[in-house]
Amino acid sequence: MKFSTLTDRVKGGAADAWDLHYLAKLARERGDDVIVLSVGDPDFATPPAIIDKACEAMRDGDTHYTQICGHEDLRATIAAKHAASSGQAVGAENVILTSGAQNALFATSMCLLDHGDEAIVLQPMYVTYEATIQAPGATLVPVVLDADTEFRLDPDRLRNAISERTRAIFYASPSNPTGVALNHDEVQMIADMARRHDLWVVADEVYADFVFNGHFHHVASEPGMEDRAVTIGSMSKSYAMSGWRLGWAIAPTELIANIDKLALCMLYGLPGFIMQAGKYAIDHCAGDRDRMCEIYQARLDYLYQQFSAMPGLAPHRPDAGMFMLVDVRGTGLEVPEFCQRLYDTAGVSVLDATAFGASAAGHVRVSVTVPDDELREACARIGAFLETLD
Ligand SMILES: Cc1ncc(COP(=O)(O)O)c(C=O)c1O
Repeated sequence: MKFSTLTDRVKGGAADAWDLHYLAKLARERGDDVIVLSVGDPDFATPPAIIDKACEAMRDGDTHYTQICGHEDLRATIAAKHAASSGQAVGAENVILTSGAQNALFATSMCLLDHGDEAIVLQPMYVTYEATIQAPGATLVPVVLDADTEFRLDPDRLRNAISERTRAIFYASPSNPTGVALNHDEVQMIADMARRHDLWVVADEVYADFVFNGHFHHVASEPGMEDRAVTIGSMSKSYAMSGWRLGWAIAPTELIANIDKLALCMLYGLPGFIMQAGKYAIDHCAGDRDRMCEIYQARLDYLYQQFSAMPGLAPHRPDAGMFMLVDVRGTGLEVPEFCQRLYDTAGVSVLDATAFGASAAGHVRVSVTVPDDELREACARIGAFLETLD
């Protein structure tokens, strides 16, 4: 039977990197002695008070269809939080709720891009971006951030990537996989290009609550960005709610109206009890969120210190998030072989970071989404594994 050309465009090219992860996950579920450092799903349970709120809302009958763009009170809460952090004047009318940030990214891409358009993406990039940008028929133009410069943005590369066909710049800050949060100069540079060339900027900020030791820079804060900035966010990481599938886009009202039309035929609204739980989380669970942030930071500090002392490994210290990129070229092994042998001999799974783009070649992505004792054990095993390589 014939399928649409869309099915080719959403295939994406990096699926192989996950084979080892799925193998490790299955082995772990079977009870094998395996430590999975290859996934970005928080190891914390969703705070119990959030679960209680969802149950209460269900019992109270919030189990029917809802407004397509989402509960107004939650949209107002998200808008107020964003306004307080970015200084951008937004209200509930600038927010649409979606099934996770991924759904918001996809809907935004479908509403902004067309066949023949180009979208710039800072690379290394989150793996779904390729398919998300190709879905409407657009071409992804990578702007490569080099490991040698700690994945900082080179203004000339950004400038040179822009063509007549460019419609948008997509990026995740803080980034998955690099953990880099763009600094003010970089954000200004992106805003400047967007204004000059009349571009949209889609800023994926799902890790913005987990920035260590510093201020976070929103592109939406920059002058002249109110008509062209789209901010993507989510409950998945901040409140350990990845399975609840609650995210959003914050954008000019005209774009929100267009995404709303798409959401009508794609999603038809989110569960009301999940939105009630999401509002409760933002209103009452900042303490849980900040505690998780501190724990991720402590774990990443520990990893950095451990890996820095191991022969053949060169870790990059992240500014934020729950991941670390580690250059393993010093071990003399190709990355797929490194990952496979580490798994076979030590039962530790890490991800070949090439999946995130060529500039992450030679690196593995290590997640700190396991309890502290497991992380310590994983480090001991990685150290022992490296010693077997001489
Ligand atoms: C950079 C980035 N954007 C978006 C997502 C998707 O998040 P959500 O669970 O809200 O769909 C992820 C998930 O890992 C991510 O790392």
